[in-house]
Amino acid sequence: MEKNRRTVHCGELGIGDVGREVTLNGWIHRNRDHGGVHFINLRDRNGITQAVIDEDAPTPLKESAGELRMEFCVAATGVVRARPEGMVNPDMATGQIELSITDLEILNTCPPLPFMIDGEDEANENLRLKHRYLDLRNAGMRDRVKMRHQATWAIRNYLVENGFWEIETPTLIKSTPEGARDYLVPSRVNPGRFYALPQSPQLYKQILMAGGTDRYYQVARCYRDEDARGDRQPEFTQIDLEMSFASRDDVLALVEGMMARTFKDVLNREIPLPFPRLSWKEAMEKYGSDKPDLRFAMEFQDFAPYVPASDFGVFKSVLEAGGAVKAMVVPGAAANYSRKKITELEDVAKTRGAKGLAWMKVTTDGLDGGVSKFYAPQAQAIQEGLGAKEGDLILLMGANWKTAVESLGAVRVKLGKDLGLARPDDFQFCWVIDFPLFEQNEETGDWEPAHHMFSMPQEQFLPTLEENPGEVLGDLYDMVLNGNELASGSVRIHNPAIQSRIFDIVGFPEEEAKERFGFFLEALRYGAPPHAGLAVGFDRLVMVMAQMDTIRDVIAFPKNTQGISPMDESPSPVDGAQLSDLHLSVLQTEEE
Ligand code: AMO
Repeated sequence: MEKNRRTVHCGELGIGDVGREVTLNGWIHRNRDHGGVHFINLRDRNGITQAVIDEDAPTPLKESAGELRMEFCVAATGVVRARPEGMVNPDMATGQIELSITDLEILNTCPPLPFMIDGEDEANENLRLKHRYLDLRNAGMRDRVKMRHQATWAIRNYLVENGFWEIETPTLIKSTPEGARDYLVPSRVNPGRFYALPQSPQLYKQILMAGGTDRYYQVARCYRDEDARGDRQPEFTQIDLEMSFASRDDVLALVEGMMARTFKDVLNREIPLPFPRLSWKEAMEKYGSDKPDLRFAMEFQDFAPYVPASDFGVFKSVLEAGGAVKAMVVPGAAANYSRKKITELEDVAKTRGAKGLAWMKVTTDGLDGGVSKFYAPQAQAIQEGLGAKEGDLILLMGANWKTAVESLGAVRVKLGKDLGLARPDDFQFCWVIDFPLFEQNEETGDWEPAHHMFSMPQEQFLPTLEENPGEVLGDLYDMVLNGNELASGSVRIHNPAIQSRIFDIVGFPEEEAKERFGFFLEALRYGAPPHAGLAVGFDRLVMVMAQMDTIRDVIAFPKNTQGISPMDESPSPVDGAQLSDLHLSVLQTEEE
């Protein structure tokens, strides 16, 4: 290897290097014989250089060129020369030159490929995951892995400059109640006992604040036993941070700066600050989502004022039952939205519990089609009230408030995609604040924490927490980017008495609380400072930055949608001896 040690990377050579003797190390990206002249595209992490073995090259060199196949790993030494006129490739960084090979060493061979490295063969993701080492050689994948590295680097720099210490917290822990199921790890030396893998470092970072560390962050691996989907993996990464003596607004300003820095350093994009803030209620009312996509408007409007004077009974009964009727104006969509396409929108609404989707179109003659006949006498007022113009489509949804806004919200998201309004290179951040602290379980009627149990109720609700938990707003915040929930956080409870009241409301018995995280409650008792923090879903952040649809595309070794790693085939069975060491036995599974 010493002889053929690389002197330059494959993407670096230009016209200024003509005449230089260099050695490149890399992979055979393309390999073709043009009437006795052998052209090789040699690739490394850095780029591609065309290398040539001329017709009059020595026979041994021509013979080794004949042995080359795709993705062989080689070392090529030669002299850089300008490409002949007409052969210059302006689309290639090294397109003005080529390497005239004088020595070629095959460092490793490669069997026929299971798929083309730079093919756009998205269909077979499992095959790509099985041979991830090949997929990682794909230019897009390589760029995303690099982008992820650059984003971590920018974030680390920013946080360190702002006084944060990077501190690791354990990954074998006592199970932390955070909503999802825990992954458990049996203890060999403590029979019948289990560690849990952390769903997040939540309790530990709060204990770090009690420990006086003031500002903590971690690029933290988190584990949640839940079904994988596009924006969810069983193991994922958070940029987890916590600040002492800090208010909500301190956290939001710090994180806004962190995002601006990351987008600037990685994408050279300016993100305007501060981010808009919406209360949870406003986000739901206007966009039907607690993670609104602000790349386009189409805000909902109240249609209730027009309901009583019309004969459309469905909406009347909705209002009588205490529900809501919402309108959304889709600009310029009247002509393109046939009945069939509106039915597709209705189907989306139905997945969110809606019974139907009413509509009308604005034409030169006023309102037309759908339910317009019921509103003919009010047509002018409706058009003006909703600000609808000729050529617009008006969609109407009546149901109980939650179903009405959420189902119309799902339709809005689909329209954003279908109409090309949700441009992937447009980055629109916002904060959603003032979330309800508790949610009522629809089946049991019990109160559950909307985020986790350690978030502070807003001060004005403290005297009356127990009276009406449904009304209590928490000091909670989510950071949203293009309709994705990128981060969540809160001001924490640092007072054990308030913490106990929250446990009571969510029906978490004092005894069980002590049993499960007495250690944490103890830490709060010993002069824990007021503190607040947040965690950014780092995979999701990079996914949006890279304009991809799933976080699998920005994780070097992700699990597939079945939670399986096709490369190492985990999870896999283990042998009986391993199980008995761990004092475990496996119950018969259904397949057996
Ligand atoms: P939360 O559970 O909201 O909060 O998680 C924070 C952020 O992590 C991302 N995220 C995920 N990303 C990929 N796969 C998953 N399975 C997954 N689950 C969550 C989301 C989410 O916004 N301890 C608190 C944070 C805090 O209060 O400081 C927590 O973990 O982008």
